[in-house]
Amino acid sequence: MPQNAEFLIDAVRKVRVIPVMILDDVSTARPIAEALVAGGLNVLEVTLRTENALAIMEEMAKVEGAIVGSGTVRHAEHMRQSVNAGCQFMVSPGATPRLLEAAEGLSIPLLPGIGSPTEAMVAAEQGYKFLKFFPAEAMGGARVLKDFASPLSDLVFCPTGGVNPDNAASYLNLPNVVCVGGSWIVPHDAIAAGDYKRIEGLARAATRLGT
Ligand code: 3PG
Repeated sequence: MPQNAEFLIDAVRKVRVIPVMILDDVSTARPIAEALVAGGLNVLEVTLRTENALAIMEEMAKVEGAIVGSGTVRHAEHMRQSVNAGCQFMVSPGATPRLLEAAEGLSIPLLPGIGSPTEAMVAAEQGYKFLKFFPAEAMGGARVLKDFASPLSDLVFCPTGGVNPDNAASYLNLPNVVCVGGSWIVPHDAIAAGDYKRIEGLARAATRLGT
């Protein structure tokens, strides 16, 4: 079964950076999403790590131009919740056979997480060609993905975990990297201060990292 991630790949190729968010205050959802879209980042990942994550996704999905996805997807129930919340994609830290199977036939694609060639090959055997490399820096960073390029030449990656403005270009310059994900664009102190202009500025700066 194919992953059907073409629309997602097209969308992330344009922005090159996915903001990854851990949010719990629903009132911040719209202004954060609006700031990110205004700054040029419209593919947004909200992790399922808080009580209000689903409500936050629903709010963000109402923002014009925003393509909202769920992160930290661990099982089929998370997938059902993600679809119901209006998500257009899902991201997982891992790629268990059960998870990959559960995503088949859903209307939105799953970006599964892998950390090694074997894991990437297991996902590829199930039809998944666009993979999250996680946790990117701890697994060895851009050098590892560079070494994946020749033997795993049909696969493309979104490294996430420890990616920041200083090392993002080392990933984005690789031919097998479509985009990177990271939490630095939406810092906790900016959320707490309601400083959405700063978030917009960080988003705008992130759009320049891949050029
Ligand atoms: C996460 O697990 O929260 C994401 O991969 C983001 O990682 P980061 O905070 O290192 O950017």
